[in-house]
Amino acid sequence: MRPAASAAAAAPVATAPPAATAAMLERVRTQIASHRAEWQDSTVAEGRIAAQRYCAPEVWQAELQALFRPLPLIAAHSSEIASGQVLAHDGYGVPLLLARDAQGTMRCFLNVCRHRGMRLVEDSGAAQTRASVVCPYHGWSYKLDGPLRHRLHAEAFDDGAACPAGARDLVLLPCAERHGLVWVVPDPQGSLDLPAYLDGLDAELPYLGIDRLCHFRTIEAEYPANWKLIIDAFLEPYHIRVLHKDTIYPYFTDGITAGERFGPHIYSLVARRAAQDWAAAGGEPPATQEALRLLATPSQVIFPNTVTIFHPDYLSLITLYPTGPETLRWTHRMLIPADKATPDWTPHWEKTFRLIEQGVFQKEDIHCAVGIQRGLKSGANTHLAVGRVEQALSWFHDEVARRLGPVAGLT
Ligand code: FES
Ligand SMILES: [Fe+2]
Repeated sequence: MRPAASAAAAAPVATAPPAATAAMLERVRTQIASHRAEWQDSTVAEGRIAAQRYCAPEVWQAELQALFRPLPLIAAHSSEIASGQVLAHDGYGVPLLLARDAQGTMRCFLNVCRHRGMRLVEDSGAAQTRASVVCPYHGWSYKLDGPLRHRLHAEAFDDGAACPAGARDLVLLPCAERHGLVWVVPDPQGSLDLPAYLDGLDAELPYLGIDRLCHFRTIEAEYPANWKLIIDAFLEPYHIRVLHKDTIYPYFTDGITAGERFGPHIYSLVARRAAQDWAAAGGEPPATQEALRLLATPSQVIFPNTVTIFHPDYLSLITLYPTGPETLRWTHRMLIPADKATPDWTPHWEKTFRLIEQGVFQKEDIHCAVGIQRGLKSGANTHLAVGRVEQALSWFHDEVARRLGPVAGLT
């Protein structure tokens, strides 16, 4: 468990839900009160997703180029790196080095020495306190804000004993902290404008208080499935009643959700059983976001590769990366309230993390993604069917397809 970084300034605690969250909650209330889910009145056509989208190497390459290089990706929670610490991050196919300087400013560099390219910091699974970054090969050292600081026998190089300004500094990547998260564009030539990129989600996220949470645990694993199958699993409530019948379905309704698109992102509220009594009692807006989370679970797909699930008392932050056309890297961070990040709470969080990560995600959601992948090339389905209760899948896949454009070899 890592303490919250001092640089992650606490945002004011919002009480009333922001506009879109409030509107979605009202849609949940209406559905419960009328005993009719929105999808039952939907007239959109059944959707279809080509099986090749989940296994063609050409699609994978196009996704790396169109999604995983130019777009902002979430690399950490702010609490994972305190002032004066560095953290190696290898999750996005490019060796990244996150560094927070003594003044609290977060930066991201390529984790590559400017001499002969040695990897600078190893991934020890946690941030490391460093006065400077020292290359283990010949000892070139760098300040945490990037400039070359010292090199042995500097006169061996044409620019001499004085540290040259700029030319041999660490290579900086576009990086910003917003909503308690560290965002990186893994391309030195890229650009980053998070308020614009997050669209309407930017006004909804402060209410959910990600910046007030504290990192508890991260698990990383590789699975033989396409990364989009995991996104799919978190975009529809259709499977909760069957797949999760013995785990989380006792807490949820059968398919009552309200979903909204904000640019490429998707925000959903999934109604919990407690919402039935709340709706019957008139459905007053919840006084706090904690109260909201007892009625409906907020969940977002932050395009392209992040899923948030705001459980009643903690957040699952899941990021995905396609290590191949048919393999993914799963990274699940558990973020807990800072006031419950104390040793007496640790057994509770350990047990909770085990239940959600192993009992629900691994045994149920990931198990299905892997199961689907095994049959994708069997010829049983040239396309996967998307029912009206699963319409958010079409929103996501349409966005991916639009950004990829025509992919050679794809029928
Ligand atoms: S490769 Fe880093 S100092 Fe030589
Ligand atoms: Fe699920």
